[in-house]
Amino acid sequence: MKERAVSRSAAGDLVVPRSVAVIMDGNGRWAKSAGLERIRGHERGIDAVRTTVTECARLGVEALVLYAFSEENWQRPQREIDLLFGLLKRFLVEERDTLMQNRVRLLHVGRRQRLAPDVLERLDAAVALTANNAGMRLGLAIAYGGRQELVDGVQRIAAAVRAGRLEPAAIDEATVRAHLYHPELPDPDLLIRTAGEQRISNFLLWQTSYAEFHACAKCWPEFGAAELHEAFRDYGRRTRKFGKVP
Ligand code: IPE
Ligand code: IPE
Ligand code: MG
Repeated sequence: MKERAVSRSAAGDLVVPRSVAVIMDGNGRWAKSAGLERIRGHERGIDAVRTTVTECARLGVEALVLYAFSEENWQRPQREIDLLFGLLKRFLVEERDTLMQNRVRLLHVGRRQRLAPDVLERLDAAVALTANNAGMRLGLAIAYGGRQELVDGVQRIAAAVRAGRLEPAAIDEATVRAHLYHPELPDPDLLIRTAGEQRISNFLLWQTSYAEFHACAKCWPEFGAAELHEAFRDYGRRTRKFGKVP
């Protein structure tokens, strides 16, 4: 597991994980506490996304996956869903310069089926625009569910078996990994969740087997560079054993 100990006067000694995943939670609560509509929280959340992406790229994180919309989030009121996808479409256009300047390569992590054509169009355009960037990979988990990812993978594995391309006895961990949405993304070393919640909510079920978990009490719109650094410091204090005796 490659890690870099980065020393910075402003940030203190940070151990920068190779791969980070974030469950961006608490937009609604933040808005409510400020006496605003839920959507204002999602709007402010975009600033936190920009800060997190820029700072992770600057510190040398190789892969960042942000949980933006879960399969279960389709059960929210249609108005909130529409407003959320409106913000996402704006993000995919307005943040192009930020992605290019930071040499970030964007990936979509999730199902395409239920996404509207104009969302897919902007998503595909941003993915294509950044495809040759050699810096940090940024996975946007949209219409994503960990169980659904495994179901989709199992279907493709079963099809390979039926076509005679794969022996059931030959199915191993590498086979399952190869059938995830983005097998090339390294498993998260650190999983951050904001708003104080301590659950996985169907995020990256396979990939987080050995992720270190950091719960940040602040709501996502208040998550900034200082909170990210604190998460990295917390990560640096962990002993990762992977089942072995240290
Ligand atoms: C996270 O904030 C953003 C999404 C899930 C899209 P929430 O909308 O879940 O905010 P809370 O949890 O209701 O405060
Ligand atoms: C998880 O947050 C999904 C995203 C951050 C996109 P939720 O707010 O939907 O999760 P629960 O419902 O509290 O578990
Ligand atoms: Mg929530």
